[in-house]
Amino acid sequence: MQTIRGFRDILPEHISLWQKVEREAFALFESFGFKEIRIPVLEKTDLFARSIGETTDIVEKEMYTFADRKGGHLTLRPEATASICRSYIQHKMYATDPLRKFYMTGPMFRRERPQKGRYRQFYQIDAEVFGVESAYIDAELIFLLNELFKRLGLTGLTAHVNSLGCPECRPSFQRALLDFLGEKKEALCENCTRRIQKNPLRILDCKVETCQRALQGAPATIDHLCPACDDHFAIVRTTLKKQGVEFMVDKSLVRGLDYYTRTAWEIKTTTLGAQSAVAGGGRYDGLVKELGGPATPAIGFAIGFDRLVEVMEQLEIASPPPPLDLFIIALGDAAREQAYHWSCQLNQRGIRTEVDFREKSLKSLMKRADKLNAAHVLIAGENELKKNQLILRNMETKNQTSLSIDTLVPELLKILKS
Ligand code: HAM
Repeated sequence: MQTIRGFRDILPEHISLWQKVEREAFALFESFGFKEIRIPVLEKTDLFARSIGETTDIVEKEMYTFADRKGGHLTLRPEATASICRSYIQHKMYATDPLRKFYMTGPMFRRERPQKGRYRQFYQIDAEVFGVESAYIDAELIFLLNELFKRLGLTGLTAHVNSLGCPECRPSFQRALLDFLGEKKEALCENCTRRIQKNPLRILDCKVETCQRALQGAPATIDHLCPACDDHFAIVRTTLKKQGVEFMVDKSLVRGLDYYTRTAWEIKTTTLGAQSAVAGGGRYDGLVKELGGPATPAIGFAIGFDRLVEVMEQLEIASPPPPLDLFIIALGDAAREQAYHWSCQLNQRGIRTEVDFREKSLKSLMKRADKLNAAHVLIAGENELKKNQLILRNMETKNQTSLSIDTLVPELLKILKS
């Protein structure tokens, strides 16, 4: 049996980087006042169709959707923002305290063509803020991402930032875009030709080469901002600059989901080939209302966890797991029974201890202690038990200490905790 295409196991030998990222990210989120939220993996299809947009690639081609037994359609979440919005509205969080900051991590599902950095089940680390219109929160989120990547030791990343405007400025931009596309219709792919009337902004995000070529010199949202969006974006830029957060304004960045308004950004790397975005986010000031809640400004981002770890591996950033404090070599049944109790007691007191209960020779168990990188080895053979004296070996200094069984656990605690 094999995993299905685009799905993969993340094996224990690779997990320490994942855990390091989680530790750093969650600590940073908590220090900025974010709280963890856990949301279902499965939602009604309509939630994603309405929020991500009917004419996006995700909704048109990539969702894992199936008919529920009792009717209706369910979808494996392709992202987290829609579900977090649904939760914010469902639990009327706006009524008790409209300002909420959430973070979460977990698997997302998109049926894309698998390649390096692109999977059908992939993981995101997601952060969302509800209830704040101020541009300082936009800057704060970009700063936070930048800070996280710095703490993780990442280099070679660039923040691409743009403003997509609001319903006020969109019509003027769409008119300009449609005028521009007027002469280029022939060059567009079938998908884009279909999208012209329904959702012209999506055309700017098309990956087909002929479309990309035809779109060179296309109008940009940033040149059609209303005064309020213009001011908002100016504050984001000056705040980041003052703080020394590096970024570039990227007029061509439109993001692949429909809900965005105003600030949108992506953090890109040059090390993963075509899959260059390690994180993406933006404002979605209209979504809570669109999904049935009160008008609530909102903003967030998601980090592509798999891609982030791949970039860290390429940069040879390591996170070795903490070594084993003690490996107990127990030879014979009587020794194994005693070792079982010692190990439980030591682990209860925070000493990382392992026993190998198989019937193996001293030599092969010493080899295992080396393999596990144990700091100390306790040898309990039949002779040692008879003499009531066990040998504790420091694997680094090779020093050996003799310990009495009667006071073994307290003695070990003293030595191993120091
Ligand atoms: P997104 O740009 O679709 O945004 O995804 C965010 C990140 O997830 C991408 O930058 C990428 O690193 C990673 N990613 C996406 N698809 C795959 C894949 N097939 N395999 C591996 N990694 C992938 C969102 O999902 C928005 N919900 C972000 C957001 C939160 N906006 C506001 N709040």
